[in-house]
Amino acid sequence: MALNFKCAYLTLLIIATATAVDKNNFKTCDQSSFCRRLRATKDGDNSYVLNLDTLHVSDNAVEAELKNVEADASFKFILTSLSGSIFRVFIDEVKPLHPRYQVQGALNGEPQVAKLEVLERTKEKVTVRSGDNKAVITASPIKIEFYKNDVLVAVVNEKGLFSMEHLRTKTPEGEGDADQQLKEDPGAWEENFKSHHDSKPRGPEAIGVDVTFPGALRIYGLPEHADRLALRSTGPGGLDPYRLYNLDVFEYEMDSTMAVYGAVPVVYAHSDKNTVGVFWHNAAETWVDIGNSKDTNVVSSIVNLVSGHKPENTVDAHFMSESGVFDLFVLMGPTPKDAVKQYASLTGVAPLPQYFTLGYHQCRWNYNDEDDVINVVDNFDSNDLPVDVMWLDIEYTDGKKYFTWDPIKFAHPNAMITNLTSTGRKLVVIIDPHIKRESGYFLHEDCLANDYYVKNKDGNVYEGWCWPGSSSYPDLLDPKVQDYYKALYSLDKFKGTTSDVNIWNDMNEPSVFNGPEITMPKDCLHHGGWEHRHIHNIYALLYTQITYEGLLKRSSDRRPFILTRGHFAGSQRFAAVWTGDNAAEWSHLQASLPMCLSEAVGGISFCGADIGGFFNNPDQELLQRWYQTGVWLPFYRAHAHIDTRRREPYLFNEDVRTRIRNALRLRYTLLSLWYTLFREHETTGEPVIRPLFYQYPNDPNVVDIDNEVLVGSSILARPVTESGVSSVNVYLPGGPDEFWYDIEDFKQYQGTGVTNIPVTLDKNPAFYRGGSIVPRKDRPRRASTLTHHDPYTLYVALDSNKSASGTLYVDDGESYNYRNKKYLYLHFEFKDNTLTSSLIDKTDFPTDAWIERVVILGPPAKITKAKITSKSLGSVGLETSYDGEGRSLTVRKPGVNIREPFTLKLL
Ligand code: GLC
Repeated sequence: MALNFKCAYLTLLIIATATAVDKNNFKTCDQSSFCRRLRATKDGDNSYVLNLDTLHVSDNAVEAELKNVEADASFKFILTSLSGSIFRVFIDEVKPLHPRYQVQGALNGEPQVAKLEVLERTKEKVTVRSGDNKAVITASPIKIEFYKNDVLVAVVNEKGLFSMEHLRTKTPEGEGDADQQLKEDPGAWEENFKSHHDSKPRGPEAIGVDVTFPGALRIYGLPEHADRLALRSTGPGGLDPYRLYNLDVFEYEMDSTMAVYGAVPVVYAHSDKNTVGVFWHNAAETWVDIGNSKDTNVVSSIVNLVSGHKPENTVDAHFMSESGVFDLFVLMGPTPKDAVKQYASLTGVAPLPQYFTLGYHQCRWNYNDEDDVINVVDNFDSNDLPVDVMWLDIEYTDGKKYFTWDPIKFAHPNAMITNLTSTGRKLVVIIDPHIKRESGYFLHEDCLANDYYVKNKDGNVYEGWCWPGSSSYPDLLDPKVQDYYKALYSLDKFKGTTSDVNIWNDMNEPSVFNGPEITMPKDCLHHGGWEHRHIHNIYALLYTQITYEGLLKRSSDRRPFILTRGHFAGSQRFAAVWTGDNAAEWSHLQASLPMCLSEAVGGISFCGADIGGFFNNPDQELLQRWYQTGVWLPFYRAHAHIDTRRREPYLFNEDVRTRIRNALRLRYTLLSLWYTLFREHETTGEPVIRPLFYQYPNDPNVVDIDNEVLVGSSILARPVTESGVSSVNVYLPGGPDEFWYDIEDFKQYQGTGVTNIPVTLDKNPAFYRGGSIVPRKDRPRRASTLTHHDPYTLYVALDSNKSASGTLYVDDGESYNYRNKKYLYLHFEFKDNTLTSSLIDKTDFPTDAWIERVVILGPPAKITKAKITSKSLGSVGLETSYDGEGRSLTVRKPGVNIREPFTLKLL
């Protein structure tokens, strides 16, 4: 039986590699009882009223009783002002029949409160202010308007879709007067999907609300979806709502609002004047309907066109969650940068990763044995292809039992790892949450003996199917399980590993092949009596947090590197993400940009997509384009399904190999830029990669652009993600005074909008922004770990005032010494024909890296030489030369150590 099931599953898998997603496996809103119910709420239905007689005001918050007047249910409403221009609206039942779940782990600690004052108070309304933010709370029905500098930017419950189903006991059939809507909904108290039954022991407990954003042009966020960056309008009769429910979806579909592996419930509504965000802090299954008046007002826009009237555009979002408390944060902006930083202040940032993690990662399911691993690296070396990390997928284990090694194929892991690390490489191995139910397997035995497993609704250990066959799942809510798991990573427990081994957490949605929607049944039980439905979307977050803390316990002075598939708000504090099982298709290459940009504004900058596509075999053009595109995403890893042909770059002809080598080398030249940006992300919360609207918020033309990526603020890349093209259109923003320089031939462009750029297979358009200084390491090496002593070239791209500035962050690349001031953070400035370097922080880090060249783009004319002045060098004359077309001026061998402040004058 077990074997048959597995065979059936494998057949399904093989079919899945050739066909598209099986939508029948996943619910539509209409097949989900609470989504159906909440979506059916009509505008203005609202029966929730605040009793302002009960208003209580404190330094930071106002509180009052909220009543559902139809159902006679009582809630407590609290509006708090938080530091950094954030409001929090929190609503819970006064005396719930069962406690309602409050999310753990997403917030990076309790947010700090800010001062709030009541400006005005009547029986109907209360107006509060905090800094330049104002909130006007209307009592009947409840509504909250948010103003930034007296401009209305968001309204909670404008449409009256607020709903919070109070917990109740089931009224026997035909008796009582329970809410009509619930009585009519056949799924309110129990629900079936395909062959699965959901017993819903607590009955209906959904919550929902609409938030309207007057004046907004677009709304972004809600990763993870295989969709465009700007969210599209959804609604009954049209698109299903964007769904947030971590799911393992085979060959997920493009341009879809379907849920995939991650769920980050934050949106940003944006116009050329204002940006405001909403973070919906809820870990249960969530659907979000989006409305944008630009999509619905076709008739009225014609009328308006005729009448000359230009109404404000409006967007709105209707959040619908299956359970939990109401906990909504309004990020008051007013710019995208402010709103994203406000979100980061709540959910945290990615701590600085080790330097090598930004290099190239080579993965496939699977490298067959130890020799295979070493051969792959040897081939990379003999073909001058840089690589930092080798990855092992599930087949390295002994029969899919994690924390073990296959006794034949991987019998000498220590020797293999020593071999790898001797050439500066690292290893990543996979650890999934499902545990093989096999007697004698220590993990299973420990979990059984100590009662560590998730239970089914009857209180027995839950059994599901995953890679090993019959499996059970650790109850990650139990602190004992958390401690036990953390200890598993110690070197004496996970034998064969060293502190150079990092971890890939996969299948942690969790994936259950025979479960409803390929996941765990919602009525499974966790520690504390919570049902899986209450915590589903944080299972992966908890799993990676445990891994992170486990790796820190293992090696307290190494920054852990973890890759996770499932994720939630806050996952950035523990892991990088990738976009899961994509396919070798152009559309999937295209989607990798908006998917990672959406993650980046959702707080998760460390994102990438399987290079080459996971399912199926890419043709050579696609594979090359994928390597070139991946250069511009933070996480750069090739990966492939077990049924695909081998596709390591050295297996191709010299032309292909050269193009891939060039892409890899370009990536490696820019590692110090990526590293500096990750450090700046850690200190400021700014994303490492950015969509155009983030950096050019006042330009309404960029709101839909998601095929271009900004690396920090200094490079704009427009990767070629289309087949067979000889030119691509690139939107260069910023206006005529913004200069952009092609990073290869230094040709100068102005930021005046769409420019057509000719491309060949070797060309992938990318530009330095005039005004930026980008430090690079241009000497080719086999791995990033071998570049620490290498000299820098500074690319100084001049703006229309002939000035530029930039930063460089340097440390040991792996330890926490940087937290004890062992780093360099440099500021470079070019103006009046003089380049200066200074230390931003009073810190030091010993390095022998020096500056071997300064390349000035858009240089001043008639420079014949230069002079550098520093403490150790004194004043030294330097040679300069223009390139043939005068696009760049190179100053050779300044020779100064980067620790030393200097002045370099063009003469
Ligand atoms: C999942 C992962 C994929 C991995 C496979 C086997 O499908 O998404 O990356 O190769 O499992 O572990």
